[in-house]
Amino acid sequence: MKRVFLAAAVLASVATVSIAQDAEDPFADAVEMRHGLMLQMATDIGKLGAMAKGEADYDAAVATKASANIAAIASVISMDQFPAGSEYQASADSFALPALWASQDDFLTKVADLNTAAAAMQVAAATDVEGVKAGMAQLGAACSACHKAYRQPEE
Ligand code: HEC
Repeated sequence: MKRVFLAAAVLASVATVSIAQDAEDPFADAVEMRHGLMLQMATDIGKLGAMAKGEADYDAAVATKASANIAAIASVISMDQFPAGSEYQASADSFALPALWASQDDFLTKVADLNTAAAAMQVAAATDVEGVKAGMAQLGAACSACHKAYRQPEE
């Protein structure tokens, strides 16, 4: 019985903490979450890009890991990290344009394109540097197509 009370007390205090954060910016966690996902993809595509440009030697293990990471992250991206109202100038740190919500179907198509490109890169990255180059063209295009449409460029 005591344990149940303790658990309830812990839950109550956790709830209080998240309400306190919500009062400041209800979308802060969602924005932080999507930034984390995007930054990890940027780190991974940076490794693949360096190989494609000849700035780094082709390394099958590194290329395979980087492309697997991007594929995994792509599969996580959904509207869950983009709650309505969390746009640029409404939520601190957000650079997501309102068009993202106005054209949600198109945004989700671009998420699907990212998943397709990431899957292709996973196959290509395991072959050789030519594979990485070919994969980069499609993957890089998937990133920038979405940013062009739905991300406010930082000054
Ligand atoms: C379906 C749309 C979409 C795709 C695809 C996409 N992004 Fe993004 N990305 C966004 C949006 C929207 C933002 C702005 C988010 C915000 O600031 O709230 C963003 C922001 C970023 C940021 C800035 C993060 C920060 O901390 O401000 C980086 C870096 C980034 N993306 C990298 C990538 C890379 C690399 C890829 C491809 C592997 C990619 N993105 C694919 C929509 C996308």
